[in-house]
Amino acid sequence: MNGVEKILIDEQTLNEKVKELAQRITEDYKGKPLLIVGILKGSVPFMADLLRLIKLEDLSIDFMSVSSYNGGTVSSGRIRIIKDLDVDINGKNVLIVEDIVDTGFTLSKLKDMLMIRNPKSLKICTILNKPSRRTTPIDVDYIGFDVPDEFIIGYGLDYDEKYRNLPYVGILKREIYEK
Ligand code: IMP
Ligand code: MG
Repeated sequence: MNGVEKILIDEQTLNEKVKELAQRITEDYKGKPLLIVGILKGSVPFMADLLRLIKLEDLSIDFMSVSSYNGGTVSSGRIRIIKDLDVDINGKNVLIVEDIVDTGFTLSKLKDMLMIRNPKSLKICTILNKPSRRTTPIDVDYIGFDVPDEFIIGYGLDYDEKYRNLPYVGILKREIYEK
């Protein structure tokens, strides 16, 4: 596949992990209402897969879009709300779904912002985690896979808005972002 240096996590391995996370979430929220908040756009494939495996009766979804990236590979240092939630999260159990926690900056800012709105609980679920790059400490409640310090694409993750549609997670070829 052009653009991909190496496949890190194949489709089947992703499916198994998503199933495992969905089971944990189902257990943890049994009998409770849950609002899942997907962070656009990277969380879309993961969220769609996860949702359908969570066996809860009172489950609703919403989306937010924030940005800290400008089409490059380095965080710009602040976040901007591009699209806010449609619903009020006051008194709700909220689970944020993300594609990757890298420096932790985005999620820690987002968490602070959402905590002011008084949710009953606020947890975080990410399919990928890059612990070696963490600069802002953040508690992540559900983690799919730890990945190395490489530029990752696929399963929602992009480089310059491309590759989100890859059904697996791979490492981007260096020549693409160094050119
Ligand atoms: P953080 O604020 O550094 O944790 O970065 C969070 C956001 O940066 C993620 O939600 C991704 O959209 C993006 N990001 C971080 N690392 C990568 C990567 O390796 N590939 C693609 N996007 C990434
Ligand atoms: Mg993202």
